[in-house]
Amino acid sequence: MSVRLQMSGIQKRFGATRALADVTLQVQEGEVHALVGENGAGKSTLMKVLSGAHRPDEGRMELEGQLYQPASPLAARQAGIAMLYQEGSLLPHLSLEENLFLGQEECRYGFRRQQIMRRRSLDALERVGLSELDPNMSAAKLSPAQAQLVELARAFVSGCRLLVLDEPTSSLSRRDVEKLFSLIRSWRQEGMSIIYISHFLEEIESLADQVTVLCDGRSVETRPLAEWTRQDIIRCMVGRDVSQLYPDLAPPQEDCVLEWSSGEEHLQLRRGEILGISGLIGSGRSEFLEALFGLRQGPEAELGIQGHAGYASPRQRWQNGMGFLSEDRKERGLALQLSISDNLWLSSLPRWSSPKRRRSEAEIQVQRLKIRCPSAELKVSGLSGGNQQKVALGRLLQHGCDLLLLDEPTRGIDVGAKSDIYHQLRDLAAGAGGQPPCAILLVSSYLPELLGLCHRIAVMREGQLGEAQPREQWSEHSLLEASLS
Ligand SMILES: Nc1ncnc2c1ncn2[C@@H]1O[C@H](COP(=O)(O)OP(=O)(O)OP(=O)(O)O)[C@@H](O)[C@H]1O
Ligand SMILES: [Mg+2]
Repeated sequence: MSVRLQMSGIQKRFGATRALADVTLQVQEGEVHALVGENGAGKSTLMKVLSGAHRPDEGRMELEGQLYQPASPLAARQAGIAMLYQEGSLLPHLSLEENLFLGQEECRYGFRRQQIMRRRSLDALERVGLSELDPNMSAAKLSPAQAQLVELARAFVSGCRLLVLDEPTSSLSRRDVEKLFSLIRSWRQEGMSIIYISHFLEEIESLADQVTVLCDGRSVETRPLAEWTRQDIIRCMVGRDVSQLYPDLAPPQEDCVLEWSSGEEHLQLRRGEILGISGLIGSGRSEFLEALFGLRQGPEAELGIQGHAGYASPRQRWQNGMGFLSEDRKERGLALQLSISDNLWLSSLPRWSSPKRRRSEAEIQVQRLKIRCPSAELKVSGLSGGNQQKVALGRLLQHGCDLLLLDEPTRGIDVGAKSDIYHQLRDLAAGAGGQPPCAILLVSSYLPELLGLCHRIAVMREGQLGEAQPREQWSEHSLLEASLS
């Protein structure tokens, strides 16, 4: 095997933030190389340097022994390096083929070579297992999983030899994850090198050949997978042991916070209870939460929330003590151009409060959630993905709700911070710190989280909510089965 990529002494600053202090990374031909680290450790920044989106301040990169200094993402693509971004980058109003060839159209004497492009798009779609799709179809019609595969197909159009996947499974269902993994394994067989970033250590364990841990912008250690245990990886990433990922739960109280029924389906949620909703992506879990919060008209349903029956607007719901965290943090959870502090206060600003008090309370929340930033006055857009997610969650925790509806609250969050958040949610439910206990409805695609954190779990299948059962009666296997059958 020969060395495909060598990065040495890479450094990168953004103003006062040192995102990369000193990174060395070596990737071989035909290898899946996992990159892990806490939120804000520098993983995405390093990959943006590699893919030509950022220029490093210091350091040297070599691709197959040749000096490599990409001037732009297009130059990187032409050199054989493709990157699938944490957030999708397809243009919805263009066709698949136009998306595939964007910026790299086949032209001769100024004319587009339609036939060649058609053949190559069909080839590329086949390689990602989407041969049934028509290259003329509009990208807006793709499901999220298909959209991601089309982005991968784009890599094949440009003859990619090193593929970077930055948290590729965060919006895929279990079945699509398996499909992606088998594709990755077959590309590895063909000699492609893959850099794989994920906060799911289960994925790393099933896929990686080598694992590099990044901490505070430095590459701390690289070893073959077999020489790491899961605890080793966590300790190296987080700098401490995370012995108890999931907290012990307190029993819920007697009084109901939410009663919902529609035809055969019904749901009761007691104060102090954490209830999980499992199901496939697209099974209607998010729509259910949105309907409860008044963001959409649900099916004919009886809803009783602390005596407020029937439909109410999100504003009324919020005033009545219901909080909602959308799975789409960029569109619906955050104002990216405002500061962290403004975001934390966005929906709970009292009629009068001094700027000083707002700042100091925001700083407390930043510390509690371990949001990695130089100050709470920084714009949210300058935070890493996982740290943005923490701000979106912090906005709700700031408010003090009776009922929290959380849609994928820990998406993109590292193991250490996940554990902190689980403990905070448990405390909220149990009513720690003088607050009344609250009830939590939790939608998650991460089964260990549902089994570890919830009192009861219900499964949603094709828009139908099943009976909620105590978690002891479920296993990962039975949850999956109930969501498929
Ligand atoms: N465009 C930017 N402007 C300012 N700071 C930035 C920018 N991009 C990244 N940073 C900072 O660089 C550091 C590293 O961020 P990066 O996105 O690389 O982290 P990450 O390891 O990918 O984290 P996550 O797991 O949360 O995705 C963070 O402190 C972040 O706030
Ligand atoms: Mg990232």
